[in-house]
Amino acid sequence: MKVTQAILPVAGLGTRFLPWTKAVPKELLPLGNRPIIAYIVDECLEAGITDICFVISHGKESIERYFEEDPALRKELKRRGKEKLLDSLKPYANAHFETAYQEMMLGDGHAILQAKNFVKSDMVAVLFGDDLFVGDKPGIVQLIEACTFIPEKEFALIAVENIPREKTNRYGVIEIAKEVPGHPRLRKVKGLVEKPDPVKAPSTLGIVGRYLIPRSVIESLPQVAAGKDGEIRLIDALIAKLKTLPVYALECNGSRIDTGTPEGYAKAIQALGMLT
Ligand code: UTP
Repeated sequence: MKVTQAILPVAGLGTRFLPWTKAVPKELLPLGNRPIIAYIVDECLEAGITDICFVISHGKESIERYFEEDPALRKELKRRGKEKLLDSLKPYANAHFETAYQEMMLGDGHAILQAKNFVKSDMVAVLFGDDLFVGDKPGIVQLIEACTFIPEKEFALIAVENIPREKTNRYGVIEIAKEVPGHPRLRKVKGLVEKPDPVKAPSTLGIVGRYLIPRSVIESLPQVAAGKDGEIRLIDALIAKLKTLPVYALECNGSRIDTGTPEGYAKAIQALGMLT
């Protein structure tokens, strides 16, 4: 399957990084000399996804600015003879970036809905702006490759990882229907539960921030009821569609780091040399 479009929700308040996130988006925290979000965009490019929509909130415009051309800087570097640095500015020449605003932070599903007009293809990738993949192959590449094992034409595919049972109450967790022949890490999903109590969790496979979703899921988001906390979630849109839409889960090779907390960010710095 060819996927060319991705939505990157990066509008969140980043409360776990306050007070620092009052001034700077957590997605721009540096790993080496590049921000976290650049690793996620690179993951898209490696998967052949060149059409990218950032869903931002007011004050987070510096995220899109990072990917923009800067002719003045280019000219100055040229004048100073800094050819190597000039090369480092080039990687995004073939990508197309768009921005959509989320005016109120009403959840990841609500953020994705703000990119509805951007979506032109039948299948779109969703990558959360603070989830990093460490491994030989980026998570979104693994998802796209796994599509060939899925018999249906329209489906959703979610990245999952095996988590300690005591942590299920921090994740969306899947209930497995069956394994898919020919692919030991690909499963058909029977049910999805948001943050289940460890004793009630249907498995220890927790959802991480990489999805392939059909356009129909995005179109269904306005009908999704907000949770108790007022948030509209992508997982609830998938739960509502489970009866009619086949949903699959792929246990990706490698590991995922949630950089949305100071501890997760510290882990990402340690893993810098292994980042995809
Ligand atoms: P998080 O659950 O990490 O939420 O969102 P957050 O608001 O960014 O951080 P905390 O929990 O307050 O510390 C996962 C991804 O979804 C985006 C975030 O920017 C992040 O990349 N998101 C979340 C939105 O774009 N909009 C929302 O309303 C919520």
